[in-house]
Amino acid sequence: MSDVVQITKNNGVAVITINNPPVNALSPGIPDRIFEAIETIDKDDSIKAAVLIGGGRTFVAGADIKEFGKMTSGKRVRGAGMMPILLRIEDCRKPVVVAIHGTAFGGGLELAMAGHYRVAVASAQVGQPEVKLGLIPGAGGTQRLPRLAGVAAAVEMCAGGKPVSAEQALKFGIIDRLIEGDLLTGALAFAHEVAGRPAPKTRERNAKLGTPEQNAVVFAAASETARKKQPGVTAPLAAIQAIKAAVNLPFDKGCEVEQELFAECLFSDQSKALIHVFFGEREVAKIPDVSNETSVIPINSVAVVGAGTMGGGIAMVLANAGFPVLLKEVDQAALDRGIATIQKNYASSVKRGRFTQQFVVECLKRIQPVLSFDGFSGVDLVIEAVFEGMALKKEIFKELDRVCKPGAILASNTSTLSIDEIASSTARPEFVIGTHFFSPANIMRLLEVVRGKATSEEVIATCMQLSKKLGKVAVLVGNCTGFVGNRMFGPYRREAQFLVEEGAGIEAIDNALCGFGMAMGPLATGDLAGLDVGWRIRKEYRHLQKPGVRQPFCEDKLCELGRYGQKTGAGWYKYDEQRRSASDPEVARLVAGWVAEAGIPQRKIGADEIVDRCLYALVNEGARILEEGFALRAVDIDIIYLNGYGFPAYRGGPMWYADTVGLKKVYERIREFHKQHGETWTPSPLLKQLAEQAKTFAEFSRDQRATA
Ligand code: NAI
Repeated sequence: MSDVVQITKNNGVAVITINNPPVNALSPGIPDRIFEAIETIDKDDSIKAAVLIGGGRTFVAGADIKEFGKMTSGKRVRGAGMMPILLRIEDCRKPVVVAIHGTAFGGGLELAMAGHYRVAVASAQVGQPEVKLGLIPGAGGTQRLPRLAGVAAAVEMCAGGKPVSAEQALKFGIIDRLIEGDLLTGALAFAHEVAGRPAPKTRERNAKLGTPEQNAVVFAAASETARKKQPGVTAPLAAIQAIKAAVNLPFDKGCEVEQELFAECLFSDQSKALIHVFFGEREVAKIPDVSNETSVIPINSVAVVGAGTMGGGIAMVLANAGFPVLLKEVDQAALDRGIATIQKNYASSVKRGRFTQQFVVECLKRIQPVLSFDGFSGVDLVIEAVFEGMALKKEIFKELDRVCKPGAILASNTSTLSIDEIASSTARPEFVIGTHFFSPANIMRLLEVVRGKATSEEVIATCMQLSKKLGKVAVLVGNCTGFVGNRMFGPYRREAQFLVEEGAGIEAIDNALCGFGMAMGPLATGDLAGLDVGWRIRKEYRHLQKPGVRQPFCEDKLCELGRYGQKTGAGWYKYDEQRRSASDPEVARLVAGWVAEAGIPQRKIGADEIVDRCLYALVNEGARILEEGFALRAVDIDIIYLNGYGFPAYRGGPMWYADTVGLKKVYERIREFHKQHGETWTPSPLLKQLAEQAKTFAEFSRDQRATA
């Protein structure tokens, strides 16, 4: 590690440069080298001041996240190692000016705060995002940040985890000057100005620590926000707790409290889950048989067929990423409706500050409404989003195959239909793929990329790469009914309906799952998506149902009464004009009558059973999907559920959650349900096998990779 930390001299100012590409993470060894550099500077009388700067594209972007995982096995806690180094910087007799470009996050900001001054370029960002990994700053961040920025700002940054711009950091007092032009030149000039002056130690700056009265208000409000926004999540509350220690205790004692809280968070299931998610989002991009070297097809223009709920949203996603889009409909009225919805959605994005008016004007210019396939010959990719019906989809693909140039990718947004069958209507099945967006397409991060049996590696690689440009997390899935997400969602929602029919309250069910952390309960989700969607599918496939296997029926009966959910103002709940929901005693009365007639025994059902029934239904189906190879790895299923179905990130996804509970326990519970409720609960063979071998889904996926 000879060059990772370099010292050069510039006219009496030492420049310490950290070179640990790509993001100057504080990997083992680096902090020690900074320590040595400071020792050298202190001893060298020819040096009056120092500048600490990052080489390459950023200052220290953070700790090395891989190290967190190692710490939990070795009980070596990061902060404890960093702390003396930061104190050493603070104790340096020559002023240390930290020069920031790119990002100074987590350990990077903690390092920067140990300097006597900080300067930054306008494009720089600073932050303490540890809460996003279920952690708190662990190297004095919760103690130094309130001393620089004040308690309210520190609480906001440490408990919320959002970065702030250099300009905002200047206002907060985290940095001392914005540098225009070259950062090093500006930092050196600053260092010359402050050389020879007494250097302020951050840990001794108590002026901004506030009064107990002021702080009490800040802490109470922040705790309430954290509990409301992220119920059940512990790290933000721990961060607030640590900042309380900063204002109530001397610096060194405050640091001890921070260390204890950091260690508690580090060893928590929540942090392990969030770190799993962090790496999982990167892992899903790796496809064993599609190498990084696979060539991709250049995509410069796109067409979307259908300007309904999904087509309109998809056109927006594409336009937002800079692609010119042809948007095709059947007639002028449908086209006008589609465009009007797009305009309305953009207007609300401007209102909420997500986009500027100018950006929206440019996006709208990129979307060209059309009524024919003229012009399709020029596009590189078509995404079809017409009604869900095989005959219609095949007709459209046949036409697309005729009008599109050879080599153009033909993608379908179908949520249930076979990609292979759709592809069979073309003479280019290797160019046909599923791109399953989630509603609202312009908001939801998930994209299931569905691989047909003929889909080429280039087409897969192209869609996976495109997803990044669109700001989506793409997960490659196999071509089975409902693909991965919806296939699992079926049993999950089925159990919610069974529970209603067995006597659980509608709100009790939704509340139990929200209590678990789901963004929305399964019955309310049904109302949002439209109960009629499933009803139509069930009617179509009724002949395929196995006789004697129990089916939920109350939702169909609600549909027969025209209660389709939010769109008709009533479903499981009733809705006002603004689509605010309220419980509806009428539904409870109706259900009571239907189940009495069907002779279903009623009983009291607790929240624990509700959660187990719904979640283990997800897990059991997930295990089948994994076994059948329709998902590449357990983590792929997790990422789908976190980004498309409102599964709480701090529980890591359904498969990770099951691993955390223990597959033996999950399997036993599923066996109980099997005995009580019959065939739908047949345990997945893979689950049985792993439970018996005391293994996890994560280990199963690891073993599979090793043998691949
Ligand atoms: P939608 O009913 O809102 O829109 C379908 C649109 O396609 C209509 O505007 C219709 O006029 C148009 N259309 C029909 N035939 C056409 C043709 N020959 N040329 C051009 N346009 C034509 O339906 P939605 O909800 O947008 O669904 C579209 C597809 O996306 C379906 O395959 C559906 O399964 C899938 N999907 C739907 C999701 C949802 O939550 N709504 C989520 C994910 C996928």
